[in-house]
Amino acid sequence: MAPMKGIIVAAGYGTRFLPVTKTVPKELLPIGVTPSIAYIAQEFVNSGITDIIIISSRRKKTLEDYFDREIELEELFSREGRKDRLEKIEPVRARVSFVRQSEMKGTGHALLQVKHLLGGEPSVVAYPDDIVFGPKPLARQLIDVYERTGKCVLATIFEPGDVSRYGVVDPEPDGVGVRGFVEKPAKGAEPSHEVSIGRYLYTPEFFSWLEEGWKKHGSGEYYHTYALDKMIAASHVAFARVEGLRLDTGDPAGYFEAQLWNALEDPSLKPVLARFIAAHPDLRA
Ligand code: G1P
Repeated sequence: MAPMKGIIVAAGYGTRFLPVTKTVPKELLPIGVTPSIAYIAQEFVNSGITDIIIISSRRKKTLEDYFDREIELEELFSREGRKDRLEKIEPVRARVSFVRQSEMKGTGHALLQVKHLLGGEPSVVAYPDDIVFGPKPLARQLIDVYERTGKCVLATIFEPGDVSRYGVVDPEPDGVGVRGFVEKPAKGAEPSHEVSIGRYLYTPEFFSWLEEGWKKHGSGEYYHTYALDKMIAASHVAFARVEGLRLDTGDPAGYFEAQLWNALEDPSLKPVLARFIAAHPDLRA
């Protein structure tokens, strides 16, 4: 059995972060000093995944450089004996490959660009906006459910409020299976408040349905929903409620919250945040 691969879908324009995304890929925007995509790559490695495929585009060449070695700095820091700095520039311990999506035709189309590289094995797909820090790395949480059920696995969170911007799961009473899925339901039409976040474990059958759906697809972006519906109809989808803290860096507000979270965790930044709040009484409820 070929080892399971991790896929990071990183081809999008990042329009919510313009103007910086005119030149900097959204996935390289840092939380603290670490690019958000590095957290996902590390999650994969911590989950036992050592083959990572990044779906990129021609506007995002610096993503490839980020995952390469930085020879010049390595030599400098070695000469200086700066182990701490060497650690900071060490590439993630995985085999990282890049595939470009040449036209922005949606995430379903993006995934089809890597189907031939998966060796007929299941894979974990990440939309890099969602970063989770948990007792167990998120991809591993999904792999564990796959190993128990043999099904595709959706990572979910319970969102008590408005769920109209999510894909929403209709759970089986057993708390594991998925019997329906509604992408971005109108308010009041949601089947539950169990919402899908950007981490998926897909079996090879899912990719076959994805290809099938693409043949029939008309114009506009192509998403994962057609294939997912087919898998659900065959009772081949489960969900796993995420254990841990989820950060949604998909828009500037969520990204800002991730920075605040990072400041709280970082002993050199926490006092700065505390001083700032103390100096601005209007920030206290
Ligand atoms: C995508 C998925 C949606 C999911 C969401 C999680 O939507 O299509 O099912 O709930 O990510 O962030 P997007 O946010 O790309 O519109």
